[in-house]
Amino acid sequence: MPQIGSRITPGNEQEGKDASPTTSQNLNDVEQPEDQTYVVKEVNLQIHVYQMQSHGAMEEEYDNMNDGGVESGETVVTAQHWDLPCEEFDGVWDSLIFEDQLQLKLLDYIRTTLLFSDKNVNPELISWNRVVLLYGPPGTGKTSLCRGLAQKLSIRLQQRYRYGKLIEINSHSLFSKWFSESGKMVQRMFNQIWRLVEDDGAFVCVLIDEVESLAAARKAALSGSEPSDSIRVVNALLTQIDRLRKQKNVLILSTTNITEAIDIAFIDRADIKMYIGPPTQAVIYSILNSTLEELQRVGIIEPKTSLMSWATFQRQESSQMQDSHLSQRLRIAHSLYEIASVGQGLSGRAIRKLPFLAHAGYIQVGLVRRY
Ligand SMILES: Nc1ncnc2c1ncn2[C@@H]1O[C@H](COP(=O)(O)OP(=O)(O)OP(=O)(O)O)[C@@H](O)[C@H]1O
Ligand SMILES: [Mg+2]
Repeated sequence: MPQIGSRITPGNEQEGKDASPTTSQNLNDVEQPEDQTYVVKEVNLQIHVYQMQSHGAMEEEYDNMNDGGVESGETVVTAQHWDLPCEEFDGVWDSLIFEDQLQLKLLDYIRTTLLFSDKNVNPELISWNRVVLLYGPPGTGKTSLCRGLAQKLSIRLQQRYRYGKLIEINSHSLFSKWFSESGKMVQRMFNQIWRLVEDDGAFVCVLIDEVESLAAARKAALSGSEPSDSIRVVNALLTQIDRLRKQKNVLILSTTNITEAIDIAFIDRADIKMYIGPPTQAVIYSILNSTLEELQRVGIIEPKTSLMSWATFQRQESSQMQDSHLSQRLRIAHSLYEIASVGQGLSGRAIRKLPFLAHAGYIQVGLVRRY
């Protein structure tokens, strides 16, 4: 059970796997001072117990023989299906660090869609589409955020839905190969999705990653360099999305990193368009902190030292409070602060690689020299 004094954000649910609930660390809020505690009886605790799936993704393949075409001996993976919650996405949500409570905003959006559906708000008067678009530069955590959100929802909504599914559509496959077959591919893929969605007990997230390929296809069609098939595919996809978004148990998540080339018709369908930018100094600091914690956990860095959160570091800096124990922590915090300052402009993906590269590039050299 959660311990008194463990860090709990008000209104935030605690999740525990299997039969032994644990408290989850609130890593993903750089504003949260590490010694801020809440009294258990004063917060609304909701504990979710769940079991994760371990069988991996099922690939949905298309081979044009299926539709009476000429055998080519090739297949294309059009989508991946995940049963949720699954081991692959365990911890993804908590590993992501953003400012401005971005993750809470996403959860609030979901709460609103549920509330409006539950209250039977007339969609002709107030419209909402259950479509989210995350856009921003490469490596800023967009795909991870969608996967983490799908996993989180499958856990939080388990009282409403018996099981969760994530279907990741491979947008490129729809436009890259067998162009004339693309319409059929979209149809078959959505037939599958409909079979899942028709079960009221299923909560289905559809992830259309790198949605810019839709826009590229439409542009190519307009410039005349591709057959008008491409425009039909885009329209087929949009029609399917329109049908699907009316279902209560569906959420459509999409990402792109080519902001100026998102299909206008698609943008129009998104309820929220969220910009996911490169990490700030505070976020880089917190990501690096989490990498150091991991290296300590596995014993690559010893001895273990408790690290300072960004918020605590900021307070220490201003209060100038120092004792001998603190100074060691402060020294580490200062180094991280400096690295985070130099690292501004790098993506989250690049930052997460730094400890590995540092080890491979510098520490190992020392070992090699010794032999
Ligand atoms: N803000 C962040 N906090 C923590 N980790 C991050 C953050 N941004 C990116 N990462 C890490 O970077 C890696 C890449 O993230 P992801 O693939 O989700 O990025 P993306 O925005 O989808 O990139 P692309 O546009 O190239 O597809 C992930 O392992 C993720 O953990
Ligand atoms: Mg991505």
